[in-house]
Amino acid sequence: MGKPLIIAIDGPAASGKGTLSRRLANLYGLKHLDTGTLYRGVAWLMLRDDLDPRDAEAAAEVARAFDPEALGTADLRTPTVGRGASLVAVHEGVRKALFDFQRSFGLTPPGAVLDGRDIGTVIFPDATVKFFITASAEERAKRRYEELRVQDQSVTFENTLAELKRRDERDQNREEAPLKPAAEAEIIDTSKLTPDEVLGRASRIIDNIRKAMEA
Ligand code: CDP
Ligand code: CDP
Repeated sequence: MGKPLIIAIDGPAASGKGTLSRRLANLYGLKHLDTGTLYRGVAWLMLRDDLDPRDAEAAAEVARAFDPEALGTADLRTPTVGRGASLVAVHEGVRKALFDFQRSFGLTPPGAVLDGRDIGTVIFPDATVKFFITASAEERAKRRYEELRVQDQSVTFENTLAELKRRDERDQNREEAPLKPAAEAEIIDTSKLTPDEVLGRASRIIDNIRKAMEA
């Protein structure tokens, strides 16, 4: 049996990582892991238990005991949990605690699509293919705002944009595993592309890389 196919997808908030990852997983028959849910899960547990996400020791302890299966129906997609996730994600102990789970997930046949911030740089520097998915901050905030306002009428575009920029900045400037394209990453700006067009571009790149590997 060949090496598992691993597709690493990184990029800032609401750039379209999840949408592309799900479609690629379907197309190539791979599993998909949205690694943001791990950081969101740790943050959700800390907020539930009145712990401070800035507390490195407490965060690492929660991450070490973390079982993704145990979250049940927790709503991880709220802005509060997103902000908490970016606060717990700066801690080295948290990132270390979540490392093995992500590696084993990807290495289990037939392989996987993983999306997050450090998949191509830290978790799978040996991935078969790496993408960095991006879009303008305004376009990303528009997308996120449209998702959020369905559930919460009090959300505004301005707040969504400000929160998204704060989170990107924290993710890009932290010491541990900062958000940046891996050296060999294929960069796709989705600002003016439909999800179908993004999938078309990504799958052509993957097919070419696989052909070159087989040759
Ligand atoms: O996972 P990430 O936060 O990067 O973004 P997402 O949840 O996949 O996408 C955010 C929104 O952008 C979704 O509503 C998508 O339908 C939309 N979108 C996209 O993913 N790709 C495009 N090229 C255009 C829009
Ligand atoms: O969906 P969206 O892009 O808004 O966020 P997410 O992927 O669910 O990630 C939430 C937060 O978790 C990010 O802002 C990062 O701070 C952190 N994260 C990370 O540090 N490393 C990852 N591989 C995934 C997420």
